[in-house]
Amino acid sequence: MKAVVTNATVTGCLELGEIADPVADSNEAVIAVTAFSLNRGELRRAEAAPAGTQIGWDLVGVVKTAARDGSGPGEGQRVVGFSRRMQGWAQYVALPTTSFAVIPDGVSDNDAATLPVAGLTALYALERCERLLGSKVLVTGASGGVGYFACQLGRLMGAQVTAQLRRADFADMVRATGVDDVVISPDGAGFEGHGKFRSIIDGVGGQVLAKLLSQLDESGRAILYGVSAGPEATLAVRDLMLTGDGRIEGFYLYRESEIESAAKGLARLLGLLADGRLTTHVPVTGNWQSIGETAARLIGRDFAGKAVLTI
Ligand SMILES: NC(=O)c1ccc[n+]([C@@H]2O[C@H](COP(=O)([O-])OP(=O)(O)OC[C@H]3O[C@@H](n4cnc5c(N)ncnc54)[C@H](OP(=O)(O)O)[C@@H]3O)[C@@H](O)[C@H]2O)c1
Repeated sequence: MKAVVTNATVTGCLELGEIADPVADSNEAVIAVTAFSLNRGELRRAEAAPAGTQIGWDLVGVVKTAARDGSGPGEGQRVVGFSRRMQGWAQYVALPTTSFAVIPDGVSDNDAATLPVAGLTALYALERCERLLGSKVLVTGASGGVGYFACQLGRLMGAQVTAQLRRADFADMVRATGVDDVVISPDGAGFEGHGKFRSIIDGVGGQVLAKLLSQLDESGRAILYGVSAGPEATLAVRDLMLTGDGRIEGFYLYRESEIESAAKGLARLLGLLADGRLTTHVPVTGNWQSIGETAARLIGRDFAGKAVLTI
């Protein structure tokens, strides 16, 4: 079968290659993949992977062979899934039935494809926070895949959401999520007058995070899930000390999706999409033959939101 594989010598470090068909364990279904969305994290991993490595977390498709143990959806069901083994961008993938959910009628493949990594990360990062109802939440990198969902889910959970962006070009798209406040700040400065935040959902990291930690409220929590601006930060320890029991917490989707299966988390997000309470932003679509160019565009950040490619 054909699959997306790594090749450091081509644009975006990705191309289509030939690999063996997947072999399913008894708790796994084989899914005929129809589309997938791209995430910054997997593209970064692809850059460093040996040539010929398979890639891809997010996928939608149709169940070709149901799991032998009788779990999960039956053949012909349209599903969205999270491939922990990063084998999702292929004609076929074997997935444990705890890793995918049935897509309700009325939700498009493109919309569903954006959910696994970006939607689940936003959902679980917010659910780590306490007392969201009526409290202030800061979402950094709000124009990104995760940030866009975090803005909406934070509002749905009853928080007062402030979105941090580095570029004014993407402000309208983020405002349309219904956030309470948008701050254009490429370096984390300029938050005077915006108050303190009980929770910070941060995917930017680096010195942007270091600066924004001074905005953490007493007993606040900063959930750190990403490092788009850099993996290191110099902290003003005094600011953190003065929050009392303010906390900085790491976040890793692989661990969170062991606490609640991706199947359950995806079902919750699909319900919100079906009800029209959650929206996606997919400005880039195309055929998977454009995988290299699309990956390069995402890493170069020449669009906001998500890209979805069709097989
Ligand atoms: N820990 C986990 O389990 C987990 C899960 C999901 C994602 N992640 C990580 O989280 C991060 C965000 O993921 P994503 O998929 O949302 O990425 P994305 O779609 O590429 O979005 C990146 C966001 O960060 C902003 N940004 C990028 N470089 C920046 C810089 N130098 N300074 C300030 N802002 C910058 C972008 O702003 P512009 O729109 O202006 O470019 C955009 O808002 C990535 O580092 C990813 O690897 C981790």
